[in-house]
Amino acid sequence: MDWTEALKMGVPAIDGEHKHAVWLMDRLGEAIWARDPQVVCRLLLDVCDHFTRHFADEERLMAEVEYPMTAAHRAEHAEMSAWIEQAAKAVTANPGLSSPTAVKAIKWISDHLTNSDMLVAEFIRTKRAISMSMAA
Ligand SMILES: [Fe+2]
Ligand SMILES: [Fe+2]
Repeated sequence: MDWTEALKMGVPAIDGEHKHAVWLMDRLGEAIWARDPQVVCRLLLDVCDHFTRHFADEERLMAEVEYPMTAAHRAEHAEMSAWIEQAAKAVTANPGLSSPTAVKAIKWISDHLTNSDMLVAEFIRTKRAISMSMAA
């Protein structure tokens, strides 16, 4: 997946984290092609670390802007976190699982970023537009 302007939320800290997430997924993709289970394993642990921080930051942002679908979004984060943590452990114990696990991680993260996170972005844009028009 490519990092593009379209994926921006307009909140620099979160955009930086998403950019790093896209970078991690690209590295995962390369490790799958290279059939390198050790690199996949290490990257999944990095993904796990990165998303633990990122989900917390994004959840703070959603609370700050009073995003109405925060509960559903948080539940998606919780489900992904639990799965990524399990997946990283499973691959460490059994490197044979690395490719299918990495493929699933890439797909799940990309779907979340392009769908659920972009709904938050849309909400923030609309909210900003309304407050700017009220200030004018
Ligand atoms: Fe999210
Ligand atoms: Fe996100």
